[in-house]
Amino acid sequence: MPCTLSLWSAGSLVPARARFTTCDSNPEPHIESLGQRIDWPRHFFQPFFQRIHPTRTMNPSPTQAIVPQALITEDSRLPGAPELHYANGQLHLEGVRLLDLAQALGTPLFAYSKHSMLEALKRYQLGFEGRRARVHYAMKANSNLALLQLFARAGCGFDVVSQGELERVLAAGGLAKDVIFSGVGKTRGEIARALKEGILCFNVESTPELEVINEVALALGLVAPISIRVNPNVDPKTHPYISTGLKDNKFGVAHEETLALYLHAKMLKGLRIEGIDCHIGSQITTTEPYVDALNRVLDLVEQIESHGMPIHHLDFGGGLGIQYKDETAPDANVLWKTLWRVLDARGFGDRHVMVEPGRSLVGNAGVCLSTVQYVKPGEQKNFCIVDAAMNDLPRPAMYEAFHAIVPLSLHIPAEPAVFDVVGPVCESGDWLGRERTLSVAAGDVLAVLSAGAYCTSMSSNYNTRGRAAEVLIDEQQWHLIRDRETTADQLRLEKLLD
Ligand code: LLP
Repeated sequence: MPCTLSLWSAGSLVPARARFTTCDSNPEPHIESLGQRIDWPRHFFQPFFQRIHPTRTMNPSPTQAIVPQALITEDSRLPGAPELHYANGQLHLEGVRLLDLAQALGTPLFAYSKHSMLEALKRYQLGFEGRRARVHYAMKANSNLALLQLFARAGCGFDVVSQGELERVLAAGGLAKDVIFSGVGKTRGEIARALKEGILCFNVESTPELEVINEVALALGLVAPISIRVNPNVDPKTHPYISTGLKDNKFGVAHEETLALYLHAKMLKGLRIEGIDCHIGSQITTTEPYVDALNRVLDLVEQIESHGMPIHHLDFGGGLGIQYKDETAPDANVLWKTLWRVLDARGFGDRHVMVEPGRSLVGNAGVCLSTVQYVKPGEQKNFCIVDAAMNDLPRPAMYEAFHAIVPLSLHIPAEPAVFDVVGPVCESGDWLGRERTLSVAAGDVLAVLSAGAYCTSMSSNYNTRGRAAEVLIDEQQWHLIRDRETTADQLRLEKLLD
């Protein structure tokens, strides 16, 4: 049984109610609220631990510890602030009370702040002021047409990884000439379509791909603009599934082999060398990996140019992190001020630069609203069963990723308790948050935060669940930008036997 207590410390009120429970993932006792961790002496926890587990010794191994978690308050700074905030105990995104939205449109529902996305873009644009540089939104993060339209209107190009993504750009009013085509497995059909549309550049990831692009271009009587994606062998210090710049993963061409591939490309008549490309990973929260990668890429540019192949543009990919819990990723403007210093110092400050951010433009702008279906107490764990699931929010199941989960209303409908927040999908891996202190009852609506990137774009129909609706919020207004998918939508492409 968890217990509740009030805590005071020297001159400051630590969140008045704290919850204690056992937790496998946090070996040291601490009080945790969003964005903040307070360490307390272990003896402080002893009496509370004993009340919860009278027969156990506190933290006998690093896998057993007690973790009190603070309930969210009106003043908590949330990932997604300031657009996401509480006012009068109600969660708002910009000027819209999210409970009104959930009641009007049902849940699960994704809501995005237009202002938050444009502000995130502005951080890059500020960092590029006075330079020849452009943002190409990596739309794999969230490819909703309305968002593409928004970014195209705000001056972005796009980074695509499939023909489908290219068609989305065109459908949203974007232009092929602003599109970079990345990805390790482009098909001949995709290459031909992109060539005919006149895209800006192919980022090439291997020798056979280079040769196929050449063949397709020659067959069409066209010349393909290319960059080679170099794998700089830099550790971005992120989750192994989302780091891409190390030697042992499938992306890019090894640093040592890059020059030879450029020399090969120079001989192929269907290709025109435009630039060089690198992308080292995703959810990067420090500046150093970018500086290291940049220096390694510039070493290569010097080598390649000394062999008579001018490199017109440098593409540094995406990867900048966002706040899910208490991370503090560098601000894009500040990061780029640092990177321009490196570029200037090495004489490349006037080169055309491209970046391909995805998550950092949309991640913190989005939330997923989900209704509590059942509160299910258990001997080992309490479960809060909600109507969103791993098909809507796959990141926890795939990467054990953390997304903050907060109530839409701060009224206290029930005694707070520690829950695993789970969906209805028939998989033990279908969880959205583990060991979360919540004060919830069936019918309450929760918000899963930092859900603007890699959620809807990675969603599925598993368990024949329809994809959620999506809404773009613009101050007091909201626009439905994707209807809720019906079962009929899902069945439409399938055929019965005769
Ligand atoms: N450029 C290339 C070549 C990429 O592969 C990626 C992401 C990006 C740009 C954009 O990276 P971003 O700025 O969003 O970090 N599903 C994972 C993330 C996979 C990222 C794949 N590549 C997640 O949910 O964390």
